Amino acid sequence: MSSTFDLPVQNIYDNPAFFAGYKNLRQNDTGINGALEVPALCRLLPDLHGRRVLDLGCGFGDFARYARQAGAVSMTALDVSEKMLSEARRLTSDPAITYVQCAIEDYAPQPRSFDLVVSSMALHYVADYRTVALRMFDAIQPGGRFVFSVEHPVCTANPIGWVANERGEALYWPLDHYRQEGCRSTKWFIDGVVKYHRTVATYVNTLLSIGFQMEHLDEPMPSDEILALRPELQVHTRRPPILLLAASRI
Ligand SMILES: C[S@@+](CC[C@H](N)C(=O)[O-])C[C@H]1O[C@@H](n2cnc3c(N)ncnc32)[C@H](O)[C@@H]1O
Repeated sequence: MSSTFDLPVQNIYDNPAFFAGYKNLRQNDTGINGALEVPALCRLLPDLHGRRVLDLGCGFGDFARYARQAGAVSMTALDVSEKMLSEARRLTSDPAITYVQCAIEDYAPQPRSFDLVVSSMALHYVADYRTVALRMFDAIQPGGRFVFSVEHPVCTANPIGWVANERGEALYWPLDHYRQEGCRSTKWFIDGVVKYHRTVATYVNTLLSIGFQMEHLDEPMPSDEILALRPELQVHTRRPPILLLAASRI
């Protein structure tokens, strides 16, 4: 396990094997995005009518299209991956959505140029979270909001997955190295997927120290209704898969 803030930006979604695996997961909705993450994140959004919205790590552009339908006046959707953006553009015909190919780390928007900044499951790929949060604070109009989800720190701390018995049944999720923030090389579709572990305290206190006001912290897990439809998600009631934060610039 290495720990550095100086690694180059990884663009793993442009790796053909990774992209194929991820696209298959999302197209078949076999992950937790549709069932857990998207509904929980949407509950934290303000009314989108007339808002200028930025999405960091927009992927296939699902949120950009959703925000426009919900009344956003303009949508800037940014991603480092050419493959993800090409699919997003293919699925979009809306001149008010601007797709930008750029690393989150390199993006410095104009002050007060957005009313809402959203990021779904992308900031755990970013080494320097504080600098990104600072830039977003500057970019958000007072009264605006920063809402984002990341892989939960309980999952990123020691990302080796469930320990299973001989029948393949999950026994426990080993939590270790929680205080050791930094780079983790993990296996997800392929080896060598780089993510960054931070504690919950760092996620929250960084926002507070910059001047954001915390609005909500959530750890979405499947409800009984969801489990009735998708019993295979039961495992996500045993440890939180997602951390979701909403903060406002006053
Ligand atoms: C798990 S996907 C989520 C996509 C989308 N937000 C969603 O929820 O459907 C993560 C996305 O973040 C993008 N990404 C990862 N690291 C990035 C970085 N450093 N800069 C910009 N985009 C990044 C990936 O290319 C990918 O499209």
